[in-house]
Amino acid sequence: MKIAVVVGSLRKDSFNRKLANAIVRLAPPEFSFKQVEIGDLPLYNQDDDANQAESVKRLKREITSSQGLLFVTAEYNRSIPGVLKNAIDHASRPYGQSAWAGKPAGVLGASIGAIGTAMAQQHLRNVLAYLNVPTLGQPEAFIHAKDGLFDENGNIGADSKKFLQNWMDQYVAWVKKHVG
Ligand code: FNR
Repeated sequence: MKIAVVVGSLRKDSFNRKLANAIVRLAPPEFSFKQVEIGDLPLYNQDDDANQAESVKRLKREITSSQGLLFVTAEYNRSIPGVLKNAIDHASRPYGQSAWAGKPAGVLGASIGAIGTAMAQQHLRNVLAYLNVPTLGQPEAFIHAKDGLFDENGNIGADSKKFLQNWMDQYVAWVKKHVG
């Protein structure tokens, strides 16, 4: 089972990238995860739909060849970062040739704020619903990025391990249910 992981932050020391790296270690061995590159995509311009950039074609290929999606996003100004929306828009086009449709997804996010990307995740769910992406509803995971979230080896720290293991177990079941 191949999962495309989309991280909604380009920051080198991104908590969300660390979260994405750590949580995949809680998945069973038949699941493999690959983070897709979204930092080199051009700004979306509808004029380019008939002639998409190589980086856009690459993104679409990586999504299309995956059985599921995992979004791990930062929250910027109570919504998803523009870089994530840009990637979503690119791979949704040309009209009728969206790479996202039907791929089961999970949504996670971490922030230094107390609400842990709740608003960004809700906005993302709105977009994914339109794109016909069946998205795991429960459990939700609004992660507060603070000391101890990760251990010294980059694994999920002891306090959050049980919660995020359950999240991953439910995610795995969700993907299997949709892929069959
Ligand atoms: C933020 N941050 C932030 N945090 C939050 O909880 N809610 C928010 O609305 C915002 N808004 C926001 C806007 C912008 C432009 C920046 C740069 C930051 C803080 C954010 O949670 C923090 O920078 C995280 O570290 C971003 O995630 P990564 O990059 O660590 O994955």
